Amino acid sequence: ADIEAFGEKLKEAHKAMNVMRETGVIKGHLSKDGEPEKVLFSQCPYIQEGPLNSPESMKRLQDLRESVRNRVDAVVSLGIGGSYLGNKVLFDIQCGEFWNSKSTEERNGYPKFYFSGNNIDPRRTKDLIDNLEDCAEITKTHYKRNYKVMLIVISKSGGTLDTMSNFMVVYDALKKNPQIEVEVVAVTDPNLEKPTLLKQMAIDHNWPQFSVPDGVGGRFTVFTDVGLTTAACIGFDIDEFLRGARDMDEACKSDNVWENPAMLNAALKYIASEKYGRHIEVMMPYGDYLESLSMWYIQLLAESLGKQFDKEGNEVCYGRTPVVALGTRDMHSQTQQHQEGMLDKVVQFIRVEKWENDLVIPNVFPEVKKLADISGVTMGDALEVARQSNADALASNKRFNALFSLPEMNAYHLGELLYMLAMSVAYEGEFANVDAFDQPGVEAYKRIMGPKLQELKAKQ
Ligand code: PA5
Repeated sequence: ADIEAFGEKLKEAHKAMNVMRETGVIKGHLSKDGEPEKVLFSQCPYIQEGPLNSPESMKRLQDLRESVRNRVDAVVSLGIGGSYLGNKVLFDIQCGEFWNSKSTEERNGYPKFYFSGNNIDPRRTKDLIDNLEDCAEITKTHYKRNYKVMLIVISKSGGTLDTMSNFMVVYDALKKNPQIEVEVVAVTDPNLEKPTLLKQMAIDHNWPQFSVPDGVGGRFTVFTDVGLTTAACIGFDIDEFLRGARDMDEACKSDNVWENPAMLNAALKYIASEKYGRHIEVMMPYGDYLESLSMWYIQLLAESLGKQFDKEGNEVCYGRTPVVALGTRDMHSQTQQHQEGMLDKVVQFIRVEKWENDLVIPNVFPEVKKLADISGVTMGDALEVARQSNADALASNKRFNALFSLPEMNAYHLGELLYMLAMSVAYEGEFANVDAFDQPGVEAYKRIMGPKLQELKAKQ
């Protein structure tokens, strides 16, 4: 009934999405100089057809894949925010936790893969360097050759402090090690008129370059070279990923809210917030390798919809606070709050319907009744029973919850889900009349931090 009463808003938002798809224009989204700025994320899955990309960009990704496979020993992807979070999702789904402990054969010739630059943490960065140096030592001793490391530096703006400070530290240390050969790949804004710092460095040093297309904000870039360079280096199925996103895009073209997953999700979440005061969204996938998806979504929701002013400049302070959770882990920590705490949350579940290599819990201690009782059940089924029980318990106490169900955890369904979520925040931006494509609040601390760093340098 709430959705039916919402009729006009749905139509208007859908019209705005059609205009965005066709022209890249979304009302009220302006550049810093007050000019309309394009929003082109919905074109990214059509990488082969352009106009944003082209068959050549796909070919370049294939070339990258071939050039790292059976040649590069380790890749370090350096980036933060939108230049990291989506990449981590692709990595986790494809590689899992133990990728770097596997042999090259088990990795199908693909290199070890590390992330850096998503913090300015000296301990972690030192550990990474030490680890790479240890690997280089072993390679030299056993195979009498140097260790090849590729640093993929990803920054749309081209000068983000977190990314660049890590890059300089890691680059410097590895370059000084005679057992390591370092190569650099840059992923940045391709604009040649006003090149980013990273672009200029890539030109000066002759580093291979990939592009973050204009009109695609950081948190929407997983379908561009930002995410796809990672995909290429780990053997992730790029074609299937983009096909999933395109199929979801088709589904989201329907003007019937009951058939358009992004519009329906956005409408339900908006109503939950505005009518029922559910101002927190807990993103709770069931499956360890989906936790990073929850973290990716946190950025998408927080930066897109957490806005003080609407498009006319009225103060609205809109946006649910996103929370990362993981089932079943956080049923043992957060669920008490979800079940009985303030009535201010929507718990959003994600489940995987069919697990590859599901495991049956064996009857190893038949004499222990409690353990014998759970034997014979697969872990995947037990996980789903836990999730359903959580959902039923929440629903029985007026606690809002919802479910996204992935038939399988693979590139195609991941493409569908990530694209649907991106489209959903675009719809919700229209419902709430806020610009879902800027992030003015992120600038506030940056204005303070720049001079503070200069002060610090002057003192040293
Ligand atoms: O969504 C965003 O715009 C941000 O999270 C950026 O992705 C993040 O700040 C990294 O920026 P850049 O890619 O310019 O280094």
